[in-house]
Order: sequence, then structure tokens, then C-alpha cells
Amino acid sequence: MPRERPCLLPLAAPLYLAAMLGACDSAEVAPPPAGPVADGVAAPDAKTSSPSMGMPPPVAAQKMEHFAKEGPMQTTVLGEGDGPFRFTATWHLKQIPTWQRILADVKGKPKLRYLEVGVYEGRSLLWVAENVLTDASTELVAVDIFAGDYEANFDHNIAASDAHDRITKHKGPSADVLRDKSLGMFDIIYIDGSHTADDVLADAVLSWRLLSPGGLLIFDDYGWTGRKGIPLPPELLPRMAVDLFLAAYRYEVEAVDVGYQVVVRRVENPCQPKDYCTPVGQYKYYWREYELRRADESVVELTDADRGLIEALAQSRPIGGFEHQVPPNIRASAEFKALTKRLELTL
Ligand SMILES: C[S@@+](CC[C@H](N)C(=O)[O-])C[C@H]1O[C@@H](n2cnc3c(N)ncnc32)[C@H](O)[C@@H]1O
Repeated sequence: MPRERPCLLPLAAPLYLAAMLGACDSAEVAPPPAGPVADGVAAPDAKTSSPSMGMPPPVAAQKMEHFAKEGPMQTTVLGEGDGPFRFTATWHLKQIPTWQRILADVKGKPKLRYLEVGVYEGRSLLWVAENVLTDASTELVAVDIFAGDYEANFDHNIAASDAHDRITKHKGPSADVLRDKSLGMFDIIYIDGSHTADDVLADAVLSWRLLSPGGLLIFDDYGWTGRKGIPLPPELLPRMAVDLFLAAYRYEVEAVDVGYQVVVRRVENPCQPKDYCTPVGQYKYYWREYELRRADESVVELTDADRGLIEALAQSRPIGGFEHQVPPNIRASAEFKALTKRLELTL
């Protein structure tokens, strides 16, 4: 006889990761080029400007100095002094302290493979080659549409690098290139291509299949809100895509670093197979059998009231959130405290 199902306790799940993941940097960080036009954004046309009516000036009326060519430079990856490289963009330089921290464990290791989606002139890729994937057995794969004259700088920079024979270039939209399984598996993947939410989501989903267990996925510009403080609509920004991706893959994802960029590690979902199963602390809850099971699949004895609490707990991760958000009234109840103590639940 199927057991009568206990009522689910009411829960409110806030949208998106924002609340869970904390504040990000402001919009003053330089925005990325927006796809094919990035390398050749035209000077703003005065005719497109309109009287302000107290509103901020339209984006098109602002000087696009971000994309202005400074002329080819001969510099180092860090932009310090003379060197063999030509860079016009400095985006990666701001991220170096974070990357040094999150990649410290893998620095110098052999046989690592790195994939970068959206390389522009190769600055972040070459920083990785010079500072993390330094062993001769490592490989770096670059994917970009290369729809502008920045491709010439990329080619020049790769040729000028000591790592040139470890770097492979793929020209084309990432949605096409990432479908090529012959790319192999990667230990680190950096998503910094198109910045529209639909493309970032596609890049994340396609990249995930290419990421080794324990590998790192890095999203750029999670905290980007628009150009020079003028907000862009969410579908033009990476944030929504990152939130949605993390929500859908939350049992395979461990947060490593959340700030202006988001860094996650690929972990194994304890639920195998994953349908009708939710990890709850060190246990798994099976929604078909209404059973709580240990890692070894043995079943935990529960009363119907216990089961209601476990189901509430299993439902309590907000969309995009990593942590359970148990409603305060449940968390404060004697029944909940007794149950979590008896099960030694680690939430
Ligand atoms: C912000 S830049 C990358 C900067 C680079 N990661 C760095 O930090 O030095 C974004 C790059 O993504 C590329 N891109 C835009 N849409 C793309 C797509 N659909 N597929 C592949 N690359 C794309 C652009 O051509 C541009 O070179």
C-alpha cells in the first residue's frame, strides 16, 4: 500500500542566485566587447543622441573609449615594460589576484588542459600559459569568432609566446565549436565569449560536458550590469545565465569563488540515477518511494512528520542557491532540531 503523503510545508524560493551569492563589484568594471561588433564599434552618431529629460544619456551617445584602439603595443602579458605582445584590452589584469588564488593548487602541474571561450587578443589565455599551465605537457585551446582585426593581434601574440606549440586555435561561434567532442576533456574552462544570457547559458551547458570531474568552470562578468553604470537589460548580461545554469546543475556544482566572476567546481551528483532524487545533506531523498537513504542506499526510518520535514528541507534551496534556506519557523521547531540531531545532518 502506498503510504499517505505528508503535506509539504509552505516554502518561498527567491529568484536567482543574487541573494545567495552576495554583492558583486559595481558596473564600473570595463564591459566586454559584445560579439562580432566588439572590435569595430562605430563612433557614436550625434543624430542618435536625444535631449536627456533628466534621464541618463543613452548608451550610444557615450564615448566608446573602451574599444578605442590604443595602437599596437609591444608589451608583456602584464603590460609592464617592453615585451613581444600586442594588447589593446586590459580586462584580465583585474582578475589576476583571484586567478592566482583559485588556481594555486594546479599551478605548474603536468598534463592539464585549459579551454577559453572568447580569447580576443589572447591576454587571459597567455597569462594562464605563463602562470598556471607552465608545464610542457599542458595544452591550451582557444575559441573565438575572430570577427575583427584583433585576430591579427591574437595570431601575433600566440606566435610570439614560448607556449605557441601548446596552443590550438578554433575559429567559429562557440555554439558550433564546443559541440566538437574531439576537443577532448578539460581541467579548467573559462567562459568569456558572447555576453548575452542565451549564449552564456549555451556555452555553460556545452562546456560542462567537456569539463573533467573536479575541473573548474570560470564565468567572467557575473557582476557586470552595464556600460559605465547604465544598466543593460538582463538578457544582454551573463548573470541570468549563470544563475540559471547553477540552478539546473546545482547537485553537480560546488561554489569555489563568487564575486565579479563566478568559479565553480564540477562534483559528482550523489544521486545516481538523478531523476526523482534530491541530495539532502549527506543523505538522498527519493520522491517516488518517499525514502531517505544513506550513501550506501540503506533506508533511514522516518515518521510521516519526519518525512514532511525532510521534504521541506529538500525543497528549500532557492533557485540558483547552493545552501538550504529552511524557513525560520521550521528551523526553530523542536521537531526539526530533534530530527537533524538524530540524523547528524550536515547541511
Ligand atoms: C571580452 S573578449 C575576451 C577577452 C579575453 N578573455 C581576455 O580576457 O583577454 C570576448 C571575446 O568573445 C568573442 N566572442 C563573442 N561572441 C562569440 C561567440 N559566439 N563565439 C566565440 N567567441 C565569441 C569576441 O570575439 C571577443 O574576442
